[in-house]
Amino acid sequence: MFDVMPKDEENWRQVQWWRFVESTARTVAERFRFQEVRTPLVEYTELFKRGVGDTTDIVEKEMYTFTDRAGRSISLRPEGTAGIVRSFVGHKVYAQPQPTKWFYMGPMYRYERQQVGRYRQFHQLGVEAFGSFDPALDAEVIALGMQFFEELGLKGVQVEINNVGDPESRARYFEALIAYFEPYKEELAEDAQNRLYRNPMRILDSKDPHTHEIAMGAPSILEYLSEDSRANLEAVKQYLDILGVNYVQNDRLVRGLDYYTQTAFEYMVDIPGAQASTIGGGGRYNGLVQEVGGPDMPGVGFGVGLERVLLALEEQKVVVPEPSRLDCYMITFDQATKRKSMELLAELRRAGLSAERDYLDRKMKAQMKVADREQARFVAILGEDELAQNTIQVKNMETGTQEAVPFDQLVTYIQTEKGR
Ligand code: HAM
Repeated sequence: MFDVMPKDEENWRQVQWWRFVESTARTVAERFRFQEVRTPLVEYTELFKRGVGDTTDIVEKEMYTFTDRAGRSISLRPEGTAGIVRSFVGHKVYAQPQPTKWFYMGPMYRYERQQVGRYRQFHQLGVEAFGSFDPALDAEVIALGMQFFEELGLKGVQVEINNVGDPESRARYFEALIAYFEPYKEELAEDAQNRLYRNPMRILDSKDPHTHEIAMGAPSILEYLSEDSRANLEAVKQYLDILGVNYVQNDRLVRGLDYYTQTAFEYMVDIPGAQASTIGGGGRYNGLVQEVGGPDMPGVGFGVGLERVLLALEEQKVVVPEPSRLDCYMITFDQATKRKSMELLAELRRAGLSAERDYLDRKMKAQMKVADREQARFVAILGEDELAQNTIQVKNMETGTQEAVPFDQLVTYIQTEKGR
């Protein structure tokens, strides 16, 4: 876990970088008419067991789970979708006109081994669309993510897509995979052996080189897809073409969560030093709403890891907008001028201008230095003489011009000068 600081040696851990990414996310999501939703950071552990899946790494090894004072098992959310679906069902949003299009941003928690781009508290932008089977929605969800990356200025993002079928075709595919891997059982990496009968698809994305080599010869899911799933994949691809989204079809793409049906996809980009180049992933989860106690209603969405996006932005030397500058730094001298400055500062701030002064009894020269460091647009000097005449000397730091401005005209003066 790490702090996001006003200033940090690593740019991506600075608040201004986070705000840029977050505001871009909101703008893009809202343009696609997704509405923001905020759900709690904790849920009943049972929700993740049912939703994400009992045999997934996330649920088996990575959750922060504790018992609350009433003896209930609670977990910090390891991902967003399960909680969003719980909320969709709990508020009976399914009974309203569909589709429902939501997005969210916030921290998620997984007890993973730390690496570059992998943290125990990390942040996601997620979008979820409920209530429609239309493959156009799958394609638009994928395109939304791409537009987000584009508007951030991130280059070289690849989309990989696959169709992981409906539960029936997947069951047949599972059998075929077990039959294929069984003869190699002793050669497989330990975690792959453990998964063989429980979730053999996960062996396909094993990081172990020898297991990976064996997996290369495994049958493809495409051979097991129903007509419907195949048509679905083709439709999504066609819509992606219309939207101008470049993608690569990857029949080995599997996701680490159990709820996916049909479309599955991932966004990848190079992050040097990071093992993981996946900056986001998602797909359809047509059975999840029902699994969580709602009606039979489909959903599609993605989650993007903001740390990884930020690391990639830093690597690509993307220029992030500067924080807004200080409008006015007020230089004061004795008790009387400091007192008056409080009134004037308050007026400026009420008028929407940012204003600051010294609180450490610094000499004028030192105060000027601070004004410089803060890149103040205007420096307002309030000395004894000015106080006596109800005026203040205002220096425009860009043009160098300086004028005596009556107290009651200070706000208007700075507003007009600033607008020039
Ligand atoms: P996920 O693939 O588990 O999917 O996570 C999505 C993204 O979150 C990953 O691609 C990665 O960028 C980021 N991420 C995951 N774990 C970490 C970590 N420990 N540190 C940093 N970043 C991480 C989901 O979570 C699904 N809920 C996505 C989804 C939404 N599918 C449908 N709707």
